[in-house]
Amino acid sequence: MGQSWSKGYVADLTYSHGYYHELAPGFIRYCLLAQGLDHLGGEGADGTYHYCELGYGQGVSANLHAAANPRGRFCGTDFNPDHALFAQGLAHQAGVPARWMATGFEELLDEDLPPLDAVTLHGVWSWIDASARHAVVEFLRRRLKVGGVVYLSYNIMPGWSAEKPLRDLLWLQSELGNAPGDSTADRIRGALDFAMRLRRGRAAYFEQNPRAGQMLDDMQRDDIHVVAHEYFNRSWHITYFADLARSLEPAGLQFAGSIHKSDLVGEVAQRARACGLEDLRLNTALRETTHDFILNRRFRRDLFVRGASRLLPAERDARLREVAFVLLRPANAISATVQTPYGTVNLDPATLRKIVQVLQAHTTPVTLGALVEEAGLSAMPLQAVVSIFTALVAQSQVFPVFPDDARQAAGARTWAMNRLIAERARHDDVLRYLASPVTGHGIDSQQPDRVLLASWEDGAHTPQALAAAAWAAAPQFWQAQSGSDDPGAARRHLADMAGRFFEQVLPQWRRLGIAQVGDACAQAASVTSPEAVAANASSTLEAAA
Ligand SMILES: C[S@@+](CC[C@H](N)C(=O)[O-])C[C@H]1O[C@@H](n2cnc3c(N)ncnc32)[C@H](O)[C@@H]1O
Repeated sequence: MGQSWSKGYVADLTYSHGYYHELAPGFIRYCLLAQGLDHLGGEGADGTYHYCELGYGQGVSANLHAAANPRGRFCGTDFNPDHALFAQGLAHQAGVPARWMATGFEELLDEDLPPLDAVTLHGVWSWIDASARHAVVEFLRRRLKVGGVVYLSYNIMPGWSAEKPLRDLLWLQSELGNAPGDSTADRIRGALDFAMRLRRGRAAYFEQNPRAGQMLDDMQRDDIHVVAHEYFNRSWHITYFADLARSLEPAGLQFAGSIHKSDLVGEVAQRARACGLEDLRLNTALRETTHDFILNRRFRRDLFVRGASRLLPAERDARLREVAFVLLRPANAISATVQTPYGTVNLDPATLRKIVQVLQAHTTPVTLGALVEEAGLSAMPLQAVVSIFTALVAQSQVFPVFPDDARQAAGARTWAMNRLIAERARHDDVLRYLASPVTGHGIDSQQPDRVLLASWEDGAHTPQALAAAAWAAAPQFWQAQSGSDDPGAARRHLADMAGRFFEQVLPQWRRLGIAQVGDACAQAASVTSPEAVAANASSTLEAAA
């Protein structure tokens, strides 16, 4: 490995360019509000808040959030200089005013930072050593505001109990069975070959733990960068939830809720009921640990708060009615059956259909209050409607928009960021998400659609003009995309893609403020409120009269 600054953390293979919507301020805030907790409203007339991402990797989530959330002031750190350079470069080129540092968590304690409203760590905690974990807790103790929130994702027991010995053996082999100075990639290959010998020789461990064999197969197929960061750091710290919660207590943190999809869609609650747990009034640490046993869970995504700001039930409902929602997928892609890593959950199809019909009919986000009226759901308990929305949010089918964010959406820096990402798409498929100024989060996209976006923004506003402009801008790209040497076939393929772009992609991207012409950003960020629905209804009645 060689790099002493990394203290056993993989540093010679960079991390992938993933995006994680669970880190988006709006997602975190909605999950808290749905449970009656009021956080991330910010301070002052413009509701400014301070957000810090620890271990931001390539900084994709970090930069998209910084570009798309003008109320936030964003900072973060990652001690891998390659990661920091990439993240800083993206911010610099897109004119995003974020502070992406390159210090380790221990050194971060000495940085001059404002009191923080939100700190996020995705895919970091289980992979760093005890002293770095200690520094993180100390950082939270010193820097997180009272009322601040922490998002933490991490590996958890008992889901890894079959595979943990395999990872420990792989690590041991990579440390002791290779020449010092071997690259991480060589050490990984050596360790995987070693484990395969045992498997082929029918070692009892593999015979009695089929999931370990499965993990070995997966590791051989997976991207080596991901395998390196997942399994080949010196530290692979996996505990029970109760231990994790205890280790955060010195920072004054209390558990606020799991935002793992399996919890948000109600799967855990359903299965806990089947075990007869709901009457037992379990202590939080015991309850969450037990839930992990119910699912045999391997990974958690949790929110912790420093002091819970609780709303009265009526206040919570009033706030929720003001939250607007926007569709992230075409209506016909939304199903009442939700897949989770652990099973499936069925939503009420009739209610779901009514909700989706209303969202589909609007080109701007619709407040929950307006939607309940328009969908004819007023007689239903609000909680039942909120549960369906929470399931849709968990699956990235809709996204919540808070009124204070909608008011400031015009200040987002998403245009320059998206332009950069769209232009890069002509060369590679590394940056796969675009920033929405409407939702404040990243939207996944196909490479050809991003390439088309650049030409559309340059003024090609019919499918024919778009195909012509996109061909002129990147003929080799379309030739390669078509998979044929024949330029005629490549142009026909492009014409199909341009038609599809207009029919399926553009309506979504306009709704999300990604495809912008002129002042469309401000328009896209406007919200359909109960008053607007009422005004619309009365003007329709007047017209009918
Ligand atoms: C598995 S990656 C996750 C990156 C990012 N959060 C994501 O999910 O895409 C963990 C990141 O934490 C960084 N890291 C690990 N230990 C660190 C430390 N002690 N100080 C600062 N960064 C650290 C690594 O360089 C790496 O980029």
